Amino acid sequence: MSELTEIDHVAIAVRDLDAAIEWYRETFGCEVAHREVVESDGVEEALLRVADSYVQLLTPTRADSPVAAFLERRGEGLHHVGYRVADCAAALERVKAAGHRVIDEVPRPGSRGTIVAFIHPKGALGTLIELVQE
Ligand code: CO
Repeated sequence: MSELTEIDHVAIAVRDLDAAIEWYRETFGCEVAHREVVESDGVEEALLRVADSYVQLLTPTRADSPVAAFLERRGEGLHHVGYRVADCAAALERVKAAGHRVIDEVPRPGSRGTIVAFIHPKGALGTLIELVQE
C-alpha cells in the first residue's frame, strides 16, 4: 500500500498572487479556501480547493525567499507537489534511509497547522516533494 494517501496540493510559483487568484477564478471558477503568510518560508500562499486537494498559489514576501530565487531562475510555474502522508516523520525517515537527499532533516510546521518536510528535487526525479501530515 502506498504511503501517499492523497495529493495534498500542487504548488505554483507566481509573481502576483492576486492576479493569479483572479486567473483561476475567471478561468475555472475557483475560490480561495485559505490564504496565509508563512513568514519562516518568506511566502504568501492561497489555497484553491479541488475535490480533496488544493492548488496552492505561492508568491515570495521578501527578496531572499527561496521562491523569489525560483522565480528569478525559472520564472512562474510548477514549484512543488505536496503528498499527504499519515506520519510525516516516518515517511521522511524512510526517504533518508533509502539514501535520498532531503531539505528538512526533521518535520516542521507548515501552513494550515500541518506538519511538513521537503525532499530535495535532486534524487527525486527533478521534483521538489513536500510530505504533508494533516
Ligand atoms: Co507546499
